[in-house]
Amino acid sequence: MTRPARDAELVTEIKGAYEGSADAWASGPTTIYRRFAEALVAAAPTSLDGQNVLDLGAGTGVASEVLTDAGAQPIAVDLAHAMLRHRREERPPATVGDAQGLPFGAGTFDAVVAAFCLNHLPDPVAGLAECRRVTRSGGLVLASTFPSDGNHPAKAIVERELERSGYQRPRWYRTFKQHIAQLTGDDAAFAQAAWDAGYGDVEVVAIEVEAGLDRPELAVDWRLNMPHTIGFVAGLDDVARGELRARAIAALSGELPTSAAIRVLRAHVP
Ligand SMILES: C[S@@+](CC[C@H](N)C(=O)[O-])C[C@H]1O[C@@H](n2cnc3c(N)ncnc32)[C@H](O)[C@@H]1O
Repeated sequence: MTRPARDAELVTEIKGAYEGSADAWASGPTTIYRRFAEALVAAAPTSLDGQNVLDLGAGTGVASEVLTDAGAQPIAVDLAHAMLRHRREERPPATVGDAQGLPFGAGTFDAVVAAFCLNHLPDPVAGLAECRRVTRSGGLVLASTFPSDGNHPAKAIVERELERSGYQRPRWYRTFKQHIAQLTGDDAAFAQAAWDAGYGDVEVVAIEVEAGLDRPELAVDWRLNMPHTIGFVAGLDDVARGELRARAIAALSGELPTSAAIRVLRAHVP
């Protein structure tokens, strides 16, 4: 199988995973991702007030909300229609689209904000090149990712409890972790991807986001409602699901860091 075919298959699987997990995402991870979105938008080097901004990989819309609060006019794009349908009456205009082939003309936006979207791409250079194409000259691309070496401990602890219940990572997630996550999870690689995509100036900054993650319930609801876990969790009967949740909460009780580490790429279009 050629690499592009494998990449296309992975993108289709990622789309399927998010199509099937919009309600779960809204009930768990959204609370934490809202904090991440606030940190991302706050990292803009200049005001986004009055700017036309593409919210790329918008999901259930947390970055759009923060952008609107900052005075920007966001337009949302996501691969998964179900994610965009969440509270759609209250959200800015949205359309389904792939970050690696955006449905907009050149120079449409003043800025692109991509909250944890580029880290899903088999080819982040292609995604960053698309962001550059749809952004006007001098405009900003602001993108968040997770550092490969900076996992919050709740991730491993809850996964261990999932495995005790019989969970195995789905195939797409194994591929994602093995081949995709480090393309943006390594700071130098993320910055290099932006240079390769033709940006004029590039920096990757480390930000520690206060996310309330020392609360075990919040951390467990985050991890049990992710696209790679919710299929398994939803398939458990009520008793088994309740036991898993209780075990995971107990396993997290104690000293947990309240914050999580993210990385933000800031790059300007020449
Ligand atoms: C981790 S979620 C983040 C959602 C939202 N930005 C937030 O911060 O809560 C990643 C989002 O990117 C979307 N996504 C993944 N691959 C994509 C692609 N190739 N093009 C557009 N969106 C994509 C997913 O459907 C999902 O909604």
